[in-house]
Amino acid sequence: MAEAAVAERSPMNPDFFGLMPGLMADPYPLFARLRAGPPVFWAPKEGAWVLHRHAEIEAVLSDRGFRVTELAKGVAEIGERAGKPTPILSGLLTTFLPFINPPDHDLARRYYRAVLSAGSMDGAVEAITSLARDLLAEVPPSGRFDAVTGYAELLPPLVMAWFLGLPGSLIRDYALASAELGRVYDRGCSPRFLARMEAMLVAQRVPIQHEVAARRAAGPDARTDGLSRMIALADELQPMTDHAIADHAMALIFAATENTAALIGNAVAALAEAGPQCDLSVADDATCLAAVREVLRFDAPVQQMWRVAQHEMVLGGARIAAGDRLLLLIGAAQRDPAIYPDPDQFDPLRFATGTRAWRSLSLGRGMHYCLGSELGMLEAAIALKLIARRKPRPDPAKAITRDDRSTLRRVRHLPLILFPERSDPHENV
Ligand code: HEM
Repeated sequence: MAEAAVAERSPMNPDFFGLMPGLMADPYPLFARLRAGPPVFWAPKEGAWVLHRHAEIEAVLSDRGFRVTELAKGVAEIGERAGKPTPILSGLLTTFLPFINPPDHDLARRYYRAVLSAGSMDGAVEAITSLARDLLAEVPPSGRFDAVTGYAELLPPLVMAWFLGLPGSLIRDYALASAELGRVYDRGCSPRFLARMEAMLVAQRVPIQHEVAARRAAGPDARTDGLSRMIALADELQPMTDHAIADHAMALIFAATENTAALIGNAVAALAEAGPQCDLSVADDATCLAAVREVLRFDAPVQQMWRVAQHEMVLGGARIAAGDRLLLLIGAAQRDPAIYPDPDQFDPLRFATGTRAWRSLSLGRGMHYCLGSELGMLEAAIALKLIARRKPRPDPAKAITRDDRSTLRRVRHLPLILFPERSDPHENV
C-alpha cells in the first residue's frame, strides 16, 4: 500500500507506534486519544493495522480467516542471523498454542486439555484455597509483604504443579526463571536476550524431562496426573520424545502461570489502590468472581494480540490486504464506551448483579480462546477473596511498580500491609 495513503490514515504522530513508551507505563490515555480517530488505521512503525474498538477486534478474533503470527520462525531467524541459534526456545514456541496455527494448533490443544482434565473444578477449589492460605500464612506479623512476589507470582505455578502431578518447587522455579520469557512477544527482542532465554530453558527442561522419563519407565496407567495423561495421549496419537513432551508441558505451564499471576496482581492492586470504597472483606465467591471479571475488563493482563489476514477485506473503513498484519489493542477494547458505560471507572460490583453483560476479549475469542479461562478466574477469585479478608492497603513506605512491557500488563511489586488473620470458626474458605 502507498506510504502517502498510509500516513494519511494515521490519526496521530506515527512515532507512537514504534517501540512506544505510550503503550507501556500507562496505555489508557493513549487509548482514549485513539477513540477520536478512525477505528482501524495503518501504523507504519508497527507495519500493521491498529484496531482499538471492541466491535472490530471481536470480529477479527472470531474469524478463522485470520492466522496468528508464528513466533518460532521469527525468533529462530533473529538467533541465526546473530550467530546465536536458539533451537530449544524455537522448539518450545512451536508447541505454544497462541502462536501456532492449524493443524498443529488443534493437536497441541488436545494435549493441553488432557492435562487440565486431570483435576475436577471442585478439587481445584480445595487445592487452590489451601495453597493460597499457605502463602498468606507466610506473611510476617507486621503484615508487610509484597503481594506479587509473595503471593500472585507463586500461586499459579503451585496450582499447575497440582494439575500436572509435579513437585511444587520444580514448577515454581521454572515459572520464576521464565518470568521474562513473555518478552519474546514484545517488540525489539535482542539476540542476547533470546540467548539468555535459551540457556534458561536448557537448564529448566532437565528436571521436567526426567519426570517424563520416570513416568514412561513406570509404564502405562501407573499414574493419573496431568503429565501422565499428556504422555498417554501422545503415545496414542503421535509418539513424541521425552523432551518434546517436556516442551509441551513447559509451554502449558508458561501459558497458565504468567497471565494468571498478572491477573491476581492487577486484581489485588486495583482493590488496594481503590481503598475502603472497594472493600471486599466479607464478599462471597460470586462477588469475588465478578470483581475478577471487572479487573479483566479494567486492567487486562494481555493488552495486545497480533493476527495476519488471509484474504482481502474491508474492516472499519480500511481495506486490508491478504498478508497484512493487525495489531489488536485488547486493553483499549475493554474500555470501549460503546460496550461498557463509564469504562474508566473501576467498579468491582459492575458484573455482580448479572444485569450487565460481560463481553470480555481479555481471554481471547474464537479458536484461540483461553483454555484455562475458568481455572485462571477461579484462582484469581479465591486469591482475591482470601487476601481481601485481611483488608490490604498500600504500604506508604514503598511504591507499587508496574512492568515496562507492552503486551503483558502486570504489577511488578505490590507492597501492602495486611491486617492479622481473622479466626472465624464458621468460615469455610
Ligand atoms: C486468568 C488469567 C489468564 C489470562 C488473562 C489469559 C489470557 C489468555 C488469552 C488472551 C489468550 C488468547 C491468546 C490469543 O488469542 O492470541 C489465552 C490463550 C491461552 N491460555 Fe490463557 N489466560 C489466563 C489463564 C490461563 C490458564 C490458567 C491456562 C492454563 C491452565 C491458560 C492457558 C491458555 C492456553 C493453552 C491458551 C492458548 C489457546 C489457543 O491458542 O488455542 N490460560 N489466554
